[in-house]
Amino acid sequence: MSSLPRMMDNASGDLLYPRAEVLAGPPIALGCMHMGGAWDANASIPREAKEKARAAVETALELGWNFFDHADIYCHGKSEKVFAEVVEELGVSREEIILQSKCGIRFPGDPSPKCPHRFDFSADYIEASVEGSLQRLGTEYLDILLLHRPDLLAEPEEVLAAFDRLRNDGKVRHFGVSNFPPHVLDLFREAGFIPVANQVELNILRTSLFDDDVVASRRLPAPGHPADGTLAWHRRHGVVTQAWAPLAYGYPSGRKPDWDHERVHATANVVRDIARIHDVQEEAVVIAFLLRHPAGIQPVIGSRNPERLRASDAARRIRLSREDWYRLYLAGRGEPLP
Ligand SMILES: NC(=O)c1ccc[n+]([C@@H]2O[C@H](COP(=O)([O-])OP(=O)(O)OC[C@H]3O[C@@H](n4cnc5c(N)ncnc54)[C@H](OP(=O)(O)O)[C@@H]3O)[C@@H](O)[C@H]2O)c1
Repeated sequence: MSSLPRMMDNASGDLLYPRAEVLAGPPIALGCMHMGGAWDANASIPREAKEKARAAVETALELGWNFFDHADIYCHGKSEKVFAEVVEELGVSREEIILQSKCGIRFPGDPSPKCPHRFDFSADYIEASVEGSLQRLGTEYLDILLLHRPDLLAEPEEVLAAFDRLRNDGKVRHFGVSNFPPHVLDLFREAGFIPVANQVELNILRTSLFDDDVVASRRLPAPGHPADGTLAWHRRHGVVTQAWAPLAYGYPSGRKPDWDHERVHATANVVRDIARIHDVQEEAVVIAFLLRHPAGIQPVIGSRNPERLRASDAARRIRLSREDWYRLYLAGRGEPLP
């Protein structure tokens, strides 16, 4: 079995999913986490969940979003399963869509009762997880596989050997990561791997990755956030930034806050004001806030509500001014700039 070239930078990388290809269509992905209905391994998929999944997939395709984000664990595999059923019923061909899944998180009790919740980047587990996703998704290959959360016991060489086999067997085309901080990205880069994407939590109410770049006069030290932040790392190395929870679960766009009331209210007010100026729904502003950033952020939207998906899509038709972007940032950050 031939080994893959390991020099994977933006110019020459064999494993690198070309940025232009990832973002060739609309830069928004549909997150499929909730599609299975419940996080219960034994429950069957309720009819209502399937109907919602179908409505979301249909709407996404209608909007031209052909990028679908999964993970082996979502609703214990049921999200991948119901997605495959829906796609088959809708007669969507495999080549029309980009399928991304993730591996590396293990539930407590898997496989035996004393096993704790943990992260697992062992080669055996990565390869078994991909087999499971392929089976549930009813496909022969994943376009992209992400490592879900850094495994503290990870050996980069072992991970890359598993990637080589998956790639050579035609099971996975490109590889990326999720929730990786810069120092772990560095560790894997030194072993020869630059991910095509890093999926991180980033939205108007979770601005810490933006805050990394504001180093002067910090009120508080920022543990785990050196000045050399994640988004700068992505831009230097051509890694696509995928934002999970990009709608911030709806709190800045009308959902009643049950936490940090003052900051959430203030942010929702600014969002509403800017939405009026652009004659769009609030969701468009929340997503436009991410699209405006020069890192080229790809929001991974988890709504199953067709109206909300359409409202979010309007983000592509507006461009926030620098002043509006900073109004939103300051409200969501909840702290003045130095
Ligand atoms: N890599 C990771 O570690 C990680 C972690 C979490 C998620 N993800 C990915 O990111 C995707 C998106 O994440 P997410 O779904 O948690 O967050 P999200 O996209 O910010 O929010 C979507 C959720 O918020 C609800 N919502 C949105 N606006 C609302 C409003 N105004 N009122 C009431 N509810 C509202 C949606 O309900 P409706 O369906 O009713 O619109 C849906 O349940 C997931 O599907 C998954 O693919 C990745």
